Amino acid sequence: MSKETVLISGGAGYIGSHTTVALVEAGFDVVVIDNFSNSEPSAIEGVEKILGRKIDFMEVDTCDKEALRKVFEKYQFNTVIHFAAYKAVGESMTEPLKYYQNNLVSYMNILELMKEFGRPNILFSSSATVYGNAEVLPVTEQTPRQPATSPYGNTKQIAEDILSDCCRAYEGMWGIALRYFNPIGAHPSALIGELPRGVPNNLVPFVTQTAAGIRECLSVFGSDYDTPDGTCLRDYIDVVDLAKAHVAAVRRMTSGKMERKYEIFNVGTGSPLSVLELITRFMDVNGVDVPYKMVGRRSGDVPAVWADTTLANNTLGWKAERSIDDTLRSAWAWEKHLRGIQ
Ligand code: UD1
Repeated sequence: MSKETVLISGGAGYIGSHTTVALVEAGFDVVVIDNFSNSEPSAIEGVEKILGRKIDFMEVDTCDKEALRKVFEKYQFNTVIHFAAYKAVGESMTEPLKYYQNNLVSYMNILELMKEFGRPNILFSSSATVYGNAEVLPVTEQTPRQPATSPYGNTKQIAEDILSDCCRAYEGMWGIALRYFNPIGAHPSALIGELPRGVPNNLVPFVTQTAAGIRECLSVFGSDYDTPDGTCLRDYIDVVDLAKAHVAAVRRMTSGKMERKYEIFNVGTGSPLSVLELITRFMDVNGVDVPYKMVGRRSGDVPAVWADTTLANNTLGWKAERSIDDTLRSAWAWEKHLRGIQ
């Protein structure tokens, strides 16, 4: 029996590269495309080193429909995982058109070509940001979405709605949206990981860069929230576990097990961790110091959000497995690898 092939857009990115590894290890063939707008060719090299073989890669901008068409003409695949998108919340506030243009045009191109070429399955990278400041925690997939507070978040909501409409309208189209909580950590080999450009916006890259001495001091945004220690609560999901959730979702699609044309799953651990807990845990397990100070709240942050993962656990047969300690060790190992620290 020939292998199922999966097209991965944005496969050189943080989650895309880990998912590429997980899919190949699970027996799938992959075709990876990326335009390196927020990633590096070294990620593909890292993936190939881990796998011990070359993968099919094409440098393509998914906003360039004719270039994308060539990928559809060249390769036979039934499933697309669409990662390629911008993800900096703050930047999306000052450059909304950049976000709507890139995140939605690339997505439309993928969907239109899937329809034209009769490729049935699409897995879309959504985000827990769609829940906003939820009234009841943990959030289930039934928890109402809140109006988006950033153009970035809005692109996720719009993309979910487009997928829902397409799957309803087109007989041959099936979709899954995975709502990621806070992906952190790196592959245990330390050959791939997150590669933030400039000053990191997200917590863990800022922590690892501070531990490495690249940043002087970590600012903890807000210590007066209505949470046990006053700092925000999040659901930090290991990126390798997250990658495996994609494998489970692809299997569900390719084996015809979907119960509805469009399905949504939360992908998190189900356990909240505070910003302070994460920082102290990071220092403990790695034996490094991370200077930090409490500062005011960051605008747009919600006090707390974590996942009810029952649906993913029961339906996808997937569960987060890696311990937070191992995840935080992997994040530090990756930073050390990047900086050549022993
Ligand atoms: C953010 C986005 C989310 C996006 C995700 C991945 C919002 C509100 N959040 O999640 O949509 O999918 O990034 O890119 O849209 N923190 C500090 N100091 C720092 C950095 C962060 O204290 O230097 C705190 C934050 O206040 C927050 C927690 O750490 O409480 C996690 O922040 P971050 O890693 O940026 O993720 P989110 O804001 O949860």
